[in-house]
Amino acid sequence: MVESQEGQREVSGVVERTRKEKMKDHLVIEENLTPDDINGIYYIIDQFGNWVDGSVSYSGTDDIKKNLQIQFVDQYAYQKLSDIVYNRMDTHRRFHHFTVAKNSNRPLITRTPTGGYYKPHNDVASCGDFSTTIYLNDEFEGGELCLWLNDEEIKIKPKKGKSVTYKTDTPHRVSEVTEGHRDAVVFWTYSFIKDPFDMMMYRGLTEVSDRLTIGTYDTLAEAQDDPAFIIDTLQQALLRKVI
Ligand SMILES: [Fe+2]
Repeated sequence: MVESQEGQREVSGVVERTRKEKMKDHLVIEENLTPDDINGIYYIIDQFGNWVDGSVSYSGTDDIKKNLQIQFVDQYAYQKLSDIVYNRMDTHRRFHHFTVAKNSNRPLITRTPTGGYYKPHNDVASCGDFSTTIYLNDEFEGGELCLWLNDEEIKIKPKKGKSVTYKTDTPHRVSEVTEGHRDAVVFWTYSFIKDPFDMMMYRGLTEVSDRLTIGTYDTLAEAQDDPAFIIDTLQQALLRKVI
């Protein structure tokens, strides 16, 4: 009886570990925007952007954040900036596999000066399913993005071009900038997949299909005999359920 209970716990442990790996709670891409991307963004900011008080994009308590954000009068310039960000995001398979992105809204550019911060808060549900922050610079102290994950605070160290994507329902904050200023791109993404179980299945199938090569088959029976083809069928079936 005791052995059986122990065995059960062990099996549960394996299942739990597998589930957590499939349900990875944040994605870091170390070199997301290239130096050219960042130069292009700064050029547009400098030529067409106006820095305004960041509180325009939050309707909660007054002192929850102290930062600035860009406003564009020229919508064409704003679109060009969005194109730089999303053209780059589109090259990152890991981002698409993590979010199963349906669409993203236009990015927000924020600047947190020395003494600036963003205290613990939740992004409103209507923003989307995933939040992404990309650092535009790293010549500052402090300014870490802090996420509440698995009952602890995870601090993400700033690095120019690095992105962090996490579920929008993750409580988070930006620690105080103690020297220099922190510039970041922030945007939100709607996902095709809302259900956590579906997401776990999709990510698991993707992990498997990335390890297999789908072939060219002469007959359908031959195709049905190949695990790569079977996994592809399941992946498409899951997407068909949500798209
Ligand atoms: Fe936020």
